[in-house]
Formats: sequence, C-alpha cells, structure tokens
Amino acid sequence: MSTHPKRYTITAALPYTNGPIHIGHLAGVYVPADIYARYKRLTGNDVAFICGSDEHGVPITIKAKKEGVTPQDIVDKYHAIIKKSFIDFGITFDNYSRTSAKIHHDTAQEFFKTLNDKGEFIEEVTEQLYDEEANQFLADRFVTGTCPKCGNEEAYGDQCENCGSSLNATDLINPKSAITGNVPTLKETKHWFLPLDKHEVFLREWILKGHKKDWKPNVYGQVKSWLDDGLRPRAVTRDLDWGIPVPAPGGEGKVLYVWFDAPIGYISATKEWAAREGKDWEPYWKDEDTKLVHFIGKDNIVFHCIIFPSMLKAEGSYILPDNVPANEFLNLEGNKLSTSKNWAVWLPDYLEDFPNQQDVLRYALTANAPESKDNDFTWKDFQARNNNELVAIFGNFINRVVVLTNKYYEGVVPEASEFSEIDNETLAAIKAYPSVIESSIERYRFREASQELMNLARLGNKYLADEEPWKLIKTDEVRTKTIMFVALQIASALATLSEPFLPFTSEKLKGILCHSALDAESTWSDISTKDILLPSGHQIGKGELLFSKIEDKAMDEQLEKLAASKRANEAANKVIEPQKDIITFEDFTKLDLRVGTILEAEKMPKTKKLLILKVDTGIDTRTIVSGIAESFTPEEVVGKQVTVLVNLAPRALRGVESEGMILMIETPEGKLVFVNPDTAVKSGLQIS
Ligand code: 2FM
Ligand code: ZN
Repeated sequence: MSTHPKRYTITAALPYTNGPIHIGHLAGVYVPADIYARYKRLTGNDVAFICGSDEHGVPITIKAKKEGVTPQDIVDKYHAIIKKSFIDFGITFDNYSRTSAKIHHDTAQEFFKTLNDKGEFIEEVTEQLYDEEANQFLADRFVTGTCPKCGNEEAYGDQCENCGSSLNATDLINPKSAITGNVPTLKETKHWFLPLDKHEVFLREWILKGHKKDWKPNVYGQVKSWLDDGLRPRAVTRDLDWGIPVPAPGGEGKVLYVWFDAPIGYISATKEWAAREGKDWEPYWKDEDTKLVHFIGKDNIVFHCIIFPSMLKAEGSYILPDNVPANEFLNLEGNKLSTSKNWAVWLPDYLEDFPNQQDVLRYALTANAPESKDNDFTWKDFQARNNNELVAIFGNFINRVVVLTNKYYEGVVPEASEFSEIDNETLAAIKAYPSVIESSIERYRFREASQELMNLARLGNKYLADEEPWKLIKTDEVRTKTIMFVALQIASALATLSEPFLPFTSEKLKGILCHSALDAESTWSDISTKDILLPSGHQIGKGELLFSKIEDKAMDEQLEKLAASKRANEAANKVIEPQKDIITFEDFTKLDLRVGTILEAEKMPKTKKLLILKVDTGIDTRTIVSGIAESFTPEEVVGKQVTVLVNLAPRALRGVESEGMILMIETPEGKLVFVNPDTAVKSGLQIS
C-alpha cells in the first residue's frame, strides 16, 4: 500500500479536567490516536495532532463546590496532571491546549457569532428545569432522573450512561436537582438552538451514503439510529456562570454549552500551534485535501458525527471529518471503570508502581483494545502480554541477536555470503511488514497491527531457533555470519516499525543498534524497498534488557488495591444505623461502665470468635467471654485497658459463665476497635 504525503489533522477527545486520566482513556482514545499520528508522521505526512483540556461543563463546577474551591482551581490542578501523563506516556500531541485559553474563548465566540449572524440558530424562550432553593437553572449533570428510553433511574440531564442516549433535561422522568435533591420547577428562559433537523438531509447523504463502507460499524450504527429516530433542535447555550459568555444581545449571564465550545477547541488548539510554529492554521481545517480524523470514545459519537459536523457545515468554510474511529469501552477486572468508585488504574499511579514501563501498558492496552466491543482489562492479561510476548518474543529475540553479535563479532555486523532459501524468504518477509501493518492501521485496527508487529519478532525468533547460529558457530563460521546478518536486519526493522506502538522501546533499540550512526537511517518505507538495513561493518552497541518479567506478587498488589477500593465503596455505601429510641438519664445511670484491664486471655476451644478473658474491673477479677477472636490474638489483648459493662446479667457461653461485656466499635469494614481511655488510668474508674 503506498501513501502519498498528505495533510492530516488528527484530534483526540479533549479530556474533562476534573480528575486524572486512567487506562480506559488511554486505551480508547489516546494510544490509538498516538499510534496513528506517529505512523502518519513516519510515512512522511504533514500532521497536526491536536488535543487539550476540556475545562468547562457542569461536572467541574460540581466538583469545585464539593471541595470548596473555585472551578479554576480544579482545572488548573488537573490540566497540569493530565498534561504530564500524556508526556509521560509518549503521546506526541503537536499541541495540548486548554479551553480556558483566550484564543479558545475568542475562537468559540467568533464561531457562535458567525452562525448567529447567518441565522443558523433559533432563539426561543422555553421552560427549563429550575431549582428554587439553589436559585439556579438545572441542565446537564445538575439534574438526574429516569431515562425515558431505557428506564435507568440515574440518567443525567444531558445523557443516559446506561443506553447512551443523548437527552434534554426536560426529557427526564422524575427529575431531581443534583444540588439540593429538590424536585425542580419549570421556569422560562431564552436559549439559542441549533436546528439539527435542518441538517438531517445533508447528514444522511454525507454519512449514510458517503461513509457507509469506511466507518467502523459501531460508529455507523449509532449514527444511523440517531438519524432514523429523527433529529431535533438542540440548545447550544446554558444558564450557568462557568463557561464562555454568549456573545449576543440577551446572552448576559449565559454561557455556551460545553459541547458547543469543546470541539471548537480542536480548531483553537490548531491555531495556537500554528502561531507558535509560524504556520498557517487554515489549510488544516479548510483545505479539502486535508484529512480530519477524530479519535474518541463511543459516548462522544453523536457530538462528533452529528452535532459538530452540523456546526461546521452551518459555518460553511470548514472541512468535515474523514473518519471518526470511536472505540467502545474498556472495563477493569469485570467491572465498569468508574471515577467516583475509584475503580480505575490511574496513570500517575501506574507509573509509580511500574516506573519506565509505559510501553508495557501501551502494548497491553493496544493488544486488547476495545475496538469493536467493550473489553476487559485484567492484570493477568497485562502480565501475560508482558511476560509471554514482550519479554519472551520481542525482548528475547533482540537480546539473542545483540548478545551473539557482540560475542562473535565484537558488535560489528558481519559479512553475509550466499543466502539460503530460508534467508531469502525471511528477507522478503521483512519487506512485506510495513504494508501489512499499514493495512491494519489504515483500517483503524490497532490490535491487529500490534499483533503483526509481534509476528515480525516471532519470525526472528523462529529464524534463530531453526538456524541455531550458537551451534553452527562451532562448525561453519561463514554460514553463521550470514545468519547473524539476516537476524540483524530483522532487529533493525523492528526498531523502526515498533515506534508507533512502543516508542520508548523503539528509541532504546535504535540506540542499541546505533541507528543514528548509519549514513541514512531507514525510514518506515525504506524497510520495504532497501535490501540492507544494517550494512556489514556497522558497529552496534551493547545489549540492554528491553523488558523484564513481571512477577505474580506485583499483580497481587494491584488486585489488592482494587479490592481495597471495593471495600471502601461498600463501607461508604453502608447505611448508618438509625438512632435508637430515646432513653431517660435514669435509664443511662443504670449502666455501670468501668475501666477494666485484661489480665489473661485464651481462645475458647472449638470456636473461631470467642476469647475467654480475665479482667481486672477494680471491683474484682472476673471472667468475660468476648467475640473478638477473629480480630485479635490472646497475646495482643493482654494488658489492654477496655470499657466494661460490669452490671450485665451473667450468662453462660459454651459452658463458660461470662460476667460482663467489653464494649467494642465495629468499623464498616468489619474491623473491631476497643473503646478505651486515651491515657492509662486505674482499673475500676467509672465511665459516666
Ligand atoms: O467526554 C469527554 O471527556 C469530553 N470532554 C470530550 C470532549 S471532545 C471534544 F469535542 F472536545
Ligand atoms: Zn437510557
């Protein structure tokens, strides 16, 4: 497959700036987008790879309220964290901007004004949900209720996360304010609406006819069902105080809807980049020869395939996306990734636990990407991808080639003599790989592409295993040289072809093979055309382990982290017992509570829970049977001061008379904690 140089504007969904990013974001959007952008650059295209922080919208204001800080504080904090994660994981955006940037406010307002001046909006006064107590209109995430399409009781005012439907707040059944919990009233307010129905004919032509074949079935299917349901005008303004002010008479106190301004963020980020680079931004958005590709998750399909294209079309001077390769969702160990439940692997945490192992995660997420259906990330699979593929195939092959070249030839690529049939087949196979991988990438099949790359390493391993240079060196030095020459060509091809997938490894490998010392370092397409990638006489460096085995212990630690999240969630959800009936002070004084000291402790035979304690109550030393054996060993409790209810009627437990009760606190996680004085006191003192 040949690729003639072209201009590409590649965008990756602007992440909401109300938390760090996790493996789901990486797998669904940023890794495939980066593979694509790197590959397009490597094949000689002119690429603008664009992203930035999505800093408006209701969730940010809700989070700010909860934490008692300003929305600006929230976005400043997470913009820095997210930006760093992208750099850490080798995501090569040409520009990572933010929607609070002045250039974005200006661009979005200008876009709005153009549409307004062209009469592309409908201005309408409608009744919107209103929270009387909070004195605020409720839209988007400020309101929850039952989804009219699927009955999910926790749908939001803009979207139902259960069925993926995009909603208006007034569509919700039994709406409830997310601010006060109150039932909203209806109040009139004016808004600007984009009449999507007006663009229906164009959208049908453009997508259903034009892109039927080359768009992914999941994307095409969702768009078709939207169009078949019929489109309605959609409000593009909101009554909020966080966002971009509406630049029109009557727009005071209103802002642009976050989904109106966010995709325009792709344009403003391109402008910002072009200004910095001394380039003209317009061809990247207005030249029909430019390919515009949006990488997103499936919950963003409608915005990128229906709403944004309608906006671009209405404006009139922009190109439309060539493709929107949306991915499905990634789950984690069988459950939906969830920020609020902390059911996620956050990128900063991953790097802390697996320093310098970005490529392992990139590879595991690509090899198991949720391309055509939701997929599950498990630590077991992650470990297997590392140990069985990166270590055992890729790393092992490179290690053998580099070690043997150093051992036999002091690191100098040997002279090849006559090639055998296998050699010729192998050299021809190398040449075929760029187009094999390209064909997968061009169809947005990154899983398949990553497996093809691994197949090249497999080919190398098999070649060495079949030819056995380590045996042949003893009998046939000439043939051994030829074998090592061929193996080194495979290694060199791997260094170049792995760059989009394993950028850190590729860099390391190019270093080991001393690519930069070559007269002309091979490009992606050279691999198909050049007969020799590493010439005889070229000096390579010493070996360095590319990957290392991940042990079970590291995986157990990750699983334990998740288990702790689960426990914390369950604890947080556990209902606090309601207060018991009121008692009088006289009732209370009937309790004789004293400080006791545990003198002796032993396990009650044949039980799991019971300890038999000897307790000094100040009055006497008595036996108390206590159900604490699952939390404490007898040794742990001896000497402890505790609170004892000394006038509890005695009762026999397993044949042992218990004369009193030790007071305990049970945490939601089931842990027992003693109620005891915070300094040592005399046994027998009363608690009142
Ligand atoms: O779903 C999200 O995280 C959105 N912030 C994506 C925005 S994409 C674009 F249009 F900017
Ligand atoms: Zn629904």
